[in-house]
Amino acid sequence: MQEFILGSDAMRSIMKVVHQVAQYDVNVLITGESGTGKELLAKIIHLQSPRAENPFISVNCGVLSGLMFEDKLFGHEKGSFTGAIRREKGCFEMADQGTLFLDEISEIPQENQVDFLRVMEDLQFLRIGGNQLIEVDVRIISATNKDLKDKVKQGGAFREDLFYRLHVVPIYIPALRERKNVIPKMVDRFLNQLAAKYKKPKPLVKPEVIDIFCRYDWPGNVRELKNLLERVFILNDDEVISIEHLPSDFLWHFKEPHRMLDLEEVKRTAETKAILDVLYRVGGNKEQAAKILCISPRTLRHKLNKYNIKVDRGGGLCLKACLMILRNLYP
Ligand SMILES: Nc1ncnc2c1ncn2[C@@H]1O[C@H](COP(=O)(O)OP(=O)(O)OP(=O)(O)O)[C@@H](O)[C@H]1O
Ligand SMILES: [Mg+2]
Repeated sequence: MQEFILGSDAMRSIMKVVHQVAQYDVNVLITGESGTGKELLAKIIHLQSPRAENPFISVNCGVLSGLMFEDKLFGHEKGSFTGAIRREKGCFEMADQGTLFLDEISEIPQENQVDFLRVMEDLQFLRIGGNQLIEVDVRIISATNKDLKDKVKQGGAFREDLFYRLHVVPIYIPALRERKNVIPKMVDRFLNQLAAKYKKPKPLVKPEVIDIFCRYDWPGNVRELKNLLERVFILNDDEVISIEHLPSDFLWHFKEPHRMLDLEEVKRTAETKAILDVLYRVGGNKEQAAKILCISPRTLRHKLNKYNIKVDRGGGLCLKACLMILRNLYP
């Protein structure tokens, strides 16, 4: 059985709930951000339940609507619509005696919610085009990364009666950034798994790598950490993982935020530098400088004014202005 890595008392209490609910066919609603382990937890509930030997069927409720949704869940009879060349079972039937995992439950199309609620209540339905009532024995676990209660409040986006039907035992999995103390353990366990999967020795991980992992917020949660480790594991054959082994797009998150680039400022800096350079070389002679810069003396005068570059009567640059400009250019 795949392990659900725990690292805190809060997570251990989640596992206690999991052991308890696994024994009963009670509806469980798992919530948490993307990648926090909702599907893994649903599988663990299934595997700890008396249904463990029977199928675990996962269906994403967000991708289909209308008849396609009905078809996916309840199946169809041969000839019930164009292309229905044979009888097909839907997810409810496939999960018979087992567990049906309804992922992204918040996305069930509004038009399908009434029928869906009815089926959830009596576990009886007709296949599309069928006239024989099918009865199944399934345990339902659903998951969402949205605030379902909020969707209920949003004037019918999600039916309140369906919400309460699904929400008998809620389990919330916190984001990885809220339980960073589990990171060292996760890194260790994931590297064990990778070493076994790819038949490659398990590398050591330098403390500074763990440190940088603990400073990061992991918006993609455990999935992001697992995928990053797999990438590092595959791309390096060294015995130790150090900061240099981490991909640059990951390390990028720790760089200073980029200063906004203002194109006018870029132009001003480049032009001022070029004008100063040339004026120095020609001893402050504006005619000559304009020629070298391929602009008219009038344009040069305009730029000198604009960039506040002072050239004294004898042709020399005003030292104070120069210092000021250079300080601006190379702060
Ligand atoms: N506590 C954990 N221990 C071990 N592996 C974990 C844990 N949490 C998540 N994972 C792993 O992280 C990956 C993502 O988990 P899962 O698919 O269950 O997330 P999810 O919450 O269903 O994400 P989504 O909302 O995007 O569907 C999987 O490979 C899973 O095995
Ligand atoms: Mg999922």
